[in-house]
Amino acid sequence: MLEQIEFTTKSICDKTKNFRPEVGIILGTGLGGLVKEITVEYAIPYNEIPNFPVSTVEGHNGKLILGELGGKKVMAMQGRFHFYEGYTMQQVTFPVRVMKAMGIKTLIVSNASGGMNPKFEVGELMIINDHINLFPTNPLIGKNIDSLGPRFPDMSEPYKKSYIKLAHEVAKENNIKVSEGVYAGLTGPCFETPAEYRYLWRMGADVVGMSTVPEVIVAKHSGMDCFGISIVTDLGVEGVVQTVSHEEVQHIAKLQEPKMSLIVKELVRRM
Ligand code: HPA
Repeated sequence: MLEQIEFTTKSICDKTKNFRPEVGIILGTGLGGLVKEITVEYAIPYNEIPNFPVSTVEGHNGKLILGELGGKKVMAMQGRFHFYEGYTMQQVTFPVRVMKAMGIKTLIVSNASGGMNPKFEVGELMIINDHINLFPTNPLIGKNIDSLGPRFPDMSEPYKKSYIKLAHEVAKENNIKVSEGVYAGLTGPCFETPAEYRYLWRMGADVVGMSTVPEVIVAKHSGMDCFGISIVTDLGVEGVVQTVSHEEVQHIAKLQEPKMSLIVKELVRRM
């Protein structure tokens, strides 16, 4: 794996004349619009990056964007890799290893999710303050590579508290309503049954989705600080579970995305 990380990192550095990003961003379903806020210097399709899988899901563009956002150099993934696409956990999280190798110390992740918290409405923006790993595996399983991180990484602050505080400040100043809560990550690709939403809510999760947890685990293993934000695109609230489709998820995410983009941009500026 080390050789692959090194090779991919070198390839990106060669293509970008050694552009050195400080912040890594992973854009979820329907949330690629943040790229409009980035002063793009380089855009590299995933199929031109050695060892990168190619994203298979509609709504995930599959490009690595390097440029400036909020006065900082960033590298954004427009489109991520999901476990349900058939990739291994190592493939799903490979770009995070590359981010770290490029010198990135902060990871920002966004996603679309289903909300179990009865206080939530469709379109709710939720800052992720913790997560529950419900994937049947963990990206760190296997022989640990000590130069990448410790065998037993601490997870007591998966989402950095000071970033959460900053994001609330930004939201307040801009009259954007945001909530805070716990993200449960599971494989998908089915959306949840009413009994599953009920189980997730009772176990302590506010929202559920099919991503984010693997990337954040690897980022923490690498010693990075993380910030996560979710757009609740549908509700799995007891008694009011509605039908949900990928098209709806994309539609709601796209509608709410400008607010999320503003928060992320200002957060990056103040980090
Ligand atoms: N469940 C899982 N993932 C999701 C959902 C959901 O309800 N909405 C958007 N992503």
